[in-house]
Amino acid sequence: MARRPSKAPRQAPPATLVIFGGTGDLARRLLVPALAHLCSDGLIGEDLHIIGIGSREGDDEELRAGLDEFAPKNACWQRLRGRITYLRGDFTKPDLFAELKARLGEAGNIVFYLATPAQFFGPIVESLAKAGLMEESRDAFRRVAVEKPFGHDLASATALNKQILSVVDEQQVYRIDHFLGKETVQNILVARFANPWLEAVWNNRYIDHVQITAAEAIDVGTRGAFYDATGALRDMVPNHLFQLMALVGMEPPNALTADAIRTEKAKVLTAVRTPTPAEAKADGVRGQYQGYRKTAEVSPKSNVETYVALKLWVDTWRWAGVPFYLRTGKALKARDTEVVVTFKPVPLSLFRDTAVAKLPPNRLILQLQPNEGIDLDFMVKQPGPKMEAVPVALDFRYADRFTIGGRTGYETLIYDMLLGDQTLFQRADQIEAGWAAVQPFLDAWAKGKGKVETYKRGSTGPKGAAELLARDGRAWHGVQK
Ligand code: BG6
Repeated sequence: MARRPSKAPRQAPPATLVIFGGTGDLARRLLVPALAHLCSDGLIGEDLHIIGIGSREGDDEELRAGLDEFAPKNACWQRLRGRITYLRGDFTKPDLFAELKARLGEAGNIVFYLATPAQFFGPIVESLAKAGLMEESRDAFRRVAVEKPFGHDLASATALNKQILSVVDEQQVYRIDHFLGKETVQNILVARFANPWLEAVWNNRYIDHVQITAAEAIDVGTRGAFYDATGALRDMVPNHLFQLMALVGMEPPNALTADAIRTEKAKVLTAVRTPTPAEAKADGVRGQYQGYRKTAEVSPKSNVETYVALKLWVDTWRWAGVPFYLRTGKALKARDTEVVVTFKPVPLSLFRDTAVAKLPPNRLILQLQPNEGIDLDFMVKQPGPKMEAVPVALDFRYADRFTIGGRTGYETLIYDMLLGDQTLFQRADQIEAGWAAVQPFLDAWAKGKGKVETYKRGSTGPKGAAELLARDGRAWHGVQK
C-alpha cells in the first residue's frame, strides 16, 4: 500500500530463498520471473541465493533449464540463475530437512516458500521448526510464505493456523493472496484515503450498493483435479474477492502499518452477516459451464461450481443497508476484474421530462484488470434547447499515464517478504474471518440446498446471477452484464 511514499526503494537484505515445489508451475511461471524483475530493478542483489526443492530426479542445471522458459531473457536472469541450486527430496521425510539444514550451513536470513499442494503446508512448517530452521536471531530472520488455498473451510483453516502457530510466530508467517500484489488492488487504499471528496461520500448515506466481479474467460484447463475438489467459491471468494471487499469496506487505519491495516480489514470480514440456511440458498447462486464435466480429472457427475454469485451484508455503521454483490467464474464472455460502486439516486428530479427513475446513477468503477483504470459515470446537460440530463464518463487509464505491465504481482510480495513488511499478507484472523463468512453457503450447499445451473461457455454466466440482482431492482455492470 502507500507504505514507502517518499523513500526511494532500497535493496532487500541478503537472504536465501528456499522454494518447496521449486520445479512446479508456480515457481516457473510466477516466482522466477518476479525474481528476475526484482533483480533488473535493482531490488535484490548478488547476495540472494535460491534453493529449489522438488521430488524429481535432477541437478542444478536441469532445474535452471526448466526455469528458463518463463524468465526474462536478460543478463540479470543469467546471473541470478547461476545462484539457483537444486535439492531433491520428499517433503514428508525428516531426511530432507536434515539435508536442507546441512546445505543451508551458516546461512543467515532465510525465506521458506511453500509452493506445494496444500496438504504439505502444515507438515513442512512443523518439520522446519523441528530441524531448528525457524529459529531467528538478532541478525537472521526466518520466514515462511504459505500459498493458497489456506484451508478448505473454516475448521481446516483454523486447524492449519493452529498447527503453524504452535511452532512459529505470526510475525514469521506470510500468507499469500496474490491479488494483493496487484498495483490496482493496492490503489484502492490510495483512491479511498488520498481523495477526501471520495471518502466523504463513502458510506450508506450516498452509496446504494457495491459490485465486485472477477470474471475469467479461461476455463479450468489442466487444473481439473484441484478445481473439482475446490470450486469457484473456495478458489476465489474467501481470499481474492474478500480482499477487495475488505479494502472497499474498511475504516481508515490509524497508521499505515501492517497490523493497523490488517486489523481494519479483518473487521470488515467479521462484520459480514451470517445468513440463515434459507438466506444462503436464496443469496448464493452457483453455475457450471457446459462441458466442464468432460475436463480431464473432473468427475463426469461433478456438481462443483465454476461460477458463484453472492449477496452479502456488511453489518457496520458505515455499510448498514448496502448490499455487496460478489461474482466470479470461469469460461465467461471476457476477463474482467472490477469493483463498481453505485451511488444513490438524486432525492428529487428538478429536470422537466426526466423522471428521477430514468436518471442513471453516478458510478465509480475501479477497473482492476484488464485495461486498468478508474471511471466515474456522472450526468451532464445535453446541449440544446431542452433541459435534459445525460450520462457521461470520466475515464482514467493507467496505461495512458504510467508505464505498467510485465509484472506478475509477485515482485511486490517477494520484496516485501524480504523486507519484513506483512501489510500485503493475510493474518490468521483475516483468513478465519473470511472462511467464517462463506461457511454458511458451503454448509447450505452441502445439505443440497440450491441448484447448480449450467451456463454456456463465453456467456455472462447463469441466469440466477442476473435474477439475484433483478430481485432487488438492480443489474450487473460491465462487460459481464
Ligand atoms: C488463482 C485461482 O488464485 O487466481 C485461479 O486459483 C484464478 O483459479 C486466478 O484463475 C486468478 O488470478 P489472476 O491474477 O489471473 O486474476
